[in-house]
Amino acid sequence: MKTVFYKMGTQRDEEILVSAGAVIRSGGLVGFPTETVYGLGCNALDGQSALKVFQAKGRPADNPLIVHVATPEEAEKLAYTTPVYYRLAKRFMPGPLTVIMPKKECIPAEITAGNDTVAIRCPSNPVAHALIAEAGVPIAAPSANRSGSPSPTTAQHVLEDMDGRIEMILDGGACSIGLESTVVKLNGEECVILRPGAVTKAMLEEVCDAVEVADGAIDPSLVTGNVPSPGMKYKHYSPVAEVILLGTDRENFIAYVNQHATAGDAILCFTEDAEKFREDLLVLPLGHVTSPSEQAQTLYAHLREADAVSAKHVYVMKPDIKDEFLAMYNRLIRAASCKIKEI
Ligand code: TXA
Ligand code: MG
Repeated sequence: MKTVFYKMGTQRDEEILVSAGAVIRSGGLVGFPTETVYGLGCNALDGQSALKVFQAKGRPADNPLIVHVATPEEAEKLAYTTPVYYRLAKRFMPGPLTVIMPKKECIPAEITAGNDTVAIRCPSNPVAHALIAEAGVPIAAPSANRSGSPSPTTAQHVLEDMDGRIEMILDGGACSIGLESTVVKLNGEECVILRPGAVTKAMLEEVCDAVEVADGAIDPSLVTGNVPSPGMKYKHYSPVAEVILLGTDRENFIAYVNQHATAGDAILCFTEDAEKFREDLLVLPLGHVTSPSEQAQTLYAHLREADAVSAKHVYVMKPDIKDEFLAMYNRLIRAASCKIKEI
């Protein structure tokens, strides 16, 4: 299959969106930008299209897809919504929040991997919004990477993973957030975080009385038995290079890496420390110490860059296990196959 690649932001945008919408309606796959990561979209009302998504990604069949809507109210047709959903939607949608609720009949079992719930998200990225509106159907979309590798935060990343496997890619530039949405499940009044993201526990507590973090949402080694979200149990977000997550402070991190790294290894560090490493190492500054949002935005691109130069190891410091750094910690501990080296 020839994958058509379109750069958005030209006079042809409308024409391009019309053809992308037609691809979705006719059962094809479109890679598109969202504010979190790029998605691999298909018609959420068509089980056959969903199967193509699983095939293109090499995704385990028991891992359900998120359904993207143009407005929060569209969830009404797809799921049994509650007042809590509308409180969350009013505050966080459009934006990087996904809400899991009991599904309605029209959502095929292929989308939810046989679950009786469906995950709903209303993205804020203007290209994502325009594509869903143009398609005229809700769009199911996982991240547009090959299963297990870092999520794509540019259209170029999508092309690397999906060229020849999907009909079309819309290039809307780099994603502004860079890590996947916060995923929550509603249990009556209670809101349970299954995957941390840019919408933090403290932010959710502003509109929900009871917010819990599921076991295993932070540390996958805590996942046992029946997991609340199938995505929790897979090795995720990993480059080919071995990710070495060091539990230490900045000074020790710099000293340890300079002593132990092999030439060509990649170092994810704070921007403030970028000049402090040996010259034979690939230094990739994540962002400033105090800016979790900068660090989130660059993480996946840097993991891909490490692979592009065939680095053997990627050294990175363990982030704080606290509110705004939780999403970063959650992705890094999975990338490092649940291993932390305390030094
Ligand atoms: O930011 C995002 O959420 C991106 C963009 C494209 O929207 N999408 C994304 O999709 O990250 P994906 O498929 O890579 O991750 C979806 C996660 C998986 O961990 C999956 O197991 C979980 O959401 N999930 C989806 N539907 C679920 C359901 N009904 N019950 C429990 N977990 C569900
Ligand atoms: Mg994913």
